[in-house]
Amino acid sequence: MYPLLRNRRLRTSDAIRHLVRETVITPSDFLVPLFVVEGKGVKEEIPSMPNYYRMSLDVLEKEVKELWHMGLCAVLLFVKVDDSLKDNKGTEALNPDGLMQRAVKTVKNACPELLVMTDVALDPFSSYGHDGIVADGTILNDDTCEVLAEMSVSHATAGADFVAPSDMMDGRILTIREALEEEGFQNTGIMSYSAKYASAFYGPFRDALDSAPVAIKNVPKDKKTYQMDAANRFEALKETQQDIDEGADIVMVKPGLCYLDIVREIKNEVEVPVAVYQVSGEYAMLKAAAQRGWLDHDAVMMEQLIAIKRAGANIIASYFAKDAVKLM
Ligand code: PBG
Repeated sequence: MYPLLRNRRLRTSDAIRHLVRETVITPSDFLVPLFVVEGKGVKEEIPSMPNYYRMSLDVLEKEVKELWHMGLCAVLLFVKVDDSLKDNKGTEALNPDGLMQRAVKTVKNACPELLVMTDVALDPFSSYGHDGIVADGTILNDDTCEVLAEMSVSHATAGADFVAPSDMMDGRILTIREALEEEGFQNTGIMSYSAKYASAFYGPFRDALDSAPVAIKNVPKDKKTYQMDAANRFEALKETQQDIDEGADIVMVKPGLCYLDIVREIKNEVEVPVAVYQVSGEYAMLKAAAQRGWLDHDAVMMEQLIAIKRAGANIIASYFAKDAVKLM
């Protein structure tokens, strides 16, 4: 009791603050999302994501070598495909020589030890911008799972270490796990976007991949029939538990900052590693405020990343990964 107890003693200097710090971020906490496009020498800035780029395979090769030298050890690949290659079933996603498959090979050639995860969902390949096949005014569940499983096998064949299904169809983890087993990919991991909310924070990402849902008759122009309602908490636990039962090695909560209560709750419940995706809108908000001089970019960035880890994240997918590691 005061005056015998004075908590400020543990805050009197940098040295004591470091000594008693409970949460520390290291480069190996990060998963780095990367956007890949066709072409040569392409490094185009995404307008709503300042200082973040879409890159062609040759630029990607240099980028991953740089990441590896910085101590970053895992990437999450996304591709932007030409509209002419999109259809309702995401056929291009299964092309053995498609952009994703070539991107995986490029990264594995450049940096064999870097962990490569691939996004598994139809939206970048869908003419409708949906994560599943559209029919009769709905997004088909089971038919979509079959395509996702084929896609996962295709990514594993190209050399992906982990597949990361981001679609929120029911049962897709089991369908994918069974397909991987059947094809001999027992060691290919699954990082499931298990509690993925229908969030308005994905806007800049959809700009980056030109993958926003389009207006179709009788189909809502949002993803609320498969991604979760922001108001729900128990449902996140249910989704996560089911994905673990179906064979997910890592589970994920997405977005990050607005959902840290969910992160903590899931971390307390499950025994698998928990990933958190600090999404594009979270990145854009801080960049915009910092550009105006309204927030201290580096300080706010580190505070946010620490908060995500303190909430229970074992892995942080973040567009700030490089910026943060430069400060360490
Ligand atoms: C697509 C996917 C999305 C993100 C990751 N995978 C967008 C969406 O669901 O519409 C969002 C990532 C971000 O905003 O940074 N399945």
